[in-house]
Amino acid sequence: MSSSNLLRRNVRILLVGDQGVGKTSLILSLVSEEFPEEVPPKAEEITIPADVTPEHVPTNIVDYSSIEQSDDNLIEEIAKAHVVCVVYAVDDESSLDRLSSHWLPFIREHSQGENRKPIVLVGNKIDLVDYSTIDHVLTIMEDFNEVESCVECSAKTLHNISEMFYYAQKAVLHPTAPLYIMEEQD
Ligand code: GTP
Ligand code: MG
Repeated sequence: MSSSNLLRRNVRILLVGDQGVGKTSLILSLVSEEFPEEVPPKAEEITIPADVTPEHVPTNIVDYSSIEQSDDNLIEEIAKAHVVCVVYAVDDESSLDRLSSHWLPFIREHSQGENRKPIVLVGNKIDLVDYSTIDHVLTIMEDFNEVESCVECSAKTLHNISEMFYYAQKAVLHPTAPLYIMEEQD
């Protein structure tokens, strides 16, 4: 990772993932500290001021909606992002399969070389299941070393929500060898 990352004065986080996995809910839960029952397809871009982020770096959070945006739009947003959170829903196996069949190859294809983006894999809706998808995700991480970390969370219960955004910041500011975060479930 280039030294410019160590001096970076802002972090731009892009959330992508299949429809309905909870991208917009995650962003609005972080901001309002409660689960929004109704969400628009796409959240407005949000700037979190430096003094309330764990790394004291102003952080922009950008949502993606396949209904409102074209693939060209998405490619532009990937180029502008410093880190991409690829969200799946732990109760939706197809959204998990699409990490390796679609999202990770797509991001890799559109952020080659110097533009390579660190990735955080985010398993949302952990409130709905009593199992973990982390073992499956670890096998995916063996094939995609741009994945810096993974986390399971819930926009609904707020479990691991601030952690998820912290891992995204950390992937930009302090990139490391891949790691994973496994937690006891409630
Ligand atoms: P698109 O904008 O269509 O791509 O979807 P999205 O990824 O933004 O998902 P959205 O935030 O619209 O959430 C989809 C549905 O999942 C909504 O009904 C949410 O209330 C629900 N949802 C989101 N997060 C959670 C969660 O952590 N737990 C549960 N149980 N439901 C959730
Ligand atoms: Mg949405």
